[in-house]
Amino acid sequence: MEYIIVTEQARPQVALIQLNRPKELNALNLQLMGELRDALKELDDNDQVRAIVITGNERAFAAGADIKQMAGKTAVDMLNIDQFSTWDQIKKTKKPIIAAVSGFALGGGCELAMTCDMIVASETAQFGQPEIKIGVMPGAGGTQRLTRAIGKAKAMEMVLTGKFISATEAERCGLINKVVPVELYLEEAFKLASQIAQLAPVSVKLAKESVNRTFETHLDEGLHFERKNFYLTFASEDQTEGMNAFIEKRKPTFKGR
Ligand code: HXC
Repeated sequence: MEYIIVTEQARPQVALIQLNRPKELNALNLQLMGELRDALKELDDNDQVRAIVITGNERAFAAGADIKQMAGKTAVDMLNIDQFSTWDQIKKTKKPIIAAVSGFALGGGCELAMTCDMIVASETAQFGQPEIKIGVMPGAGGTQRLTRAIGKAKAMEMVLTGKFISATEAERCGLINKVVPVELYLEEAFKLASQIAQLAPVSVKLAKESVNRTFETHLDEGLHFERKNFYLTFASEDQTEGMNAFIEKRKPTFKGR
């Protein structure tokens, strides 16, 4: 492994993967992503590991996909390189993954953090999808995961203007779990991972899979589901009572039927 450092037992039953291209602010080149995929697969298959922490360094979690590696590529090159199959494999990791973020988490770096199950950040962390400023757009889930995490208005602003948000703002809008002083972010991620590592592994795996299912349901499917339930309310006495009460300017009496 050239660009990541793996510690299998960083804490009892908790593994650590550190992204390690510090000079390039951990820019995610294809080799780094391949190494990350392979390491996660190994840790996922290792019975001695129950939770995984991914981190960078104090200055950067990751400042995005490697712009220098992508700069000369055509659309067909990108299609043939098919880097997202690596991301798809990473997403299949069954064990819980916690991102411990300090400094920049931008573009693919922000997307990688969001691919993890939880995010613990230092006060210095900055999250952003600045792809728009270099003439592209998020490609590894940014438009989807960010929107689901923080809502359309804020996601749209971040994606269309490329503005960064602070760790405090990211916590306020639900993108991350916790903000702590910079000297504590990794320890805090370990704490969370260790807590989960002590719980029933099968339940943890199934629960992770179930929560993630929310994100895998298409909007159309969700809307369809909502619409059916909306129609179903018209089969209830309470719908008749509620609407009639409104028209008759009185308080409704609901019976749960
Ligand atoms: C390649 C990068 C890089 C990146 C930084 N570097 N980000 N190299 N790809 N994404 C390199 C710089 O070129 C520089 O190398 C070194 O890291 C230090 O960066 P500086 O710019 O000198 O540092 P600073 O002035 O502190 O600015 C930090 C920064 C800035 C604000 C994070 O580096 C920046 O804007 N980076 C790009 C962020 C971005 O646009 N990310 C989205 C990428 S597209 P040298 O050799 O000059 O010292 C993307 C698509 C994802 O992520 C979809 C597919 C997975």
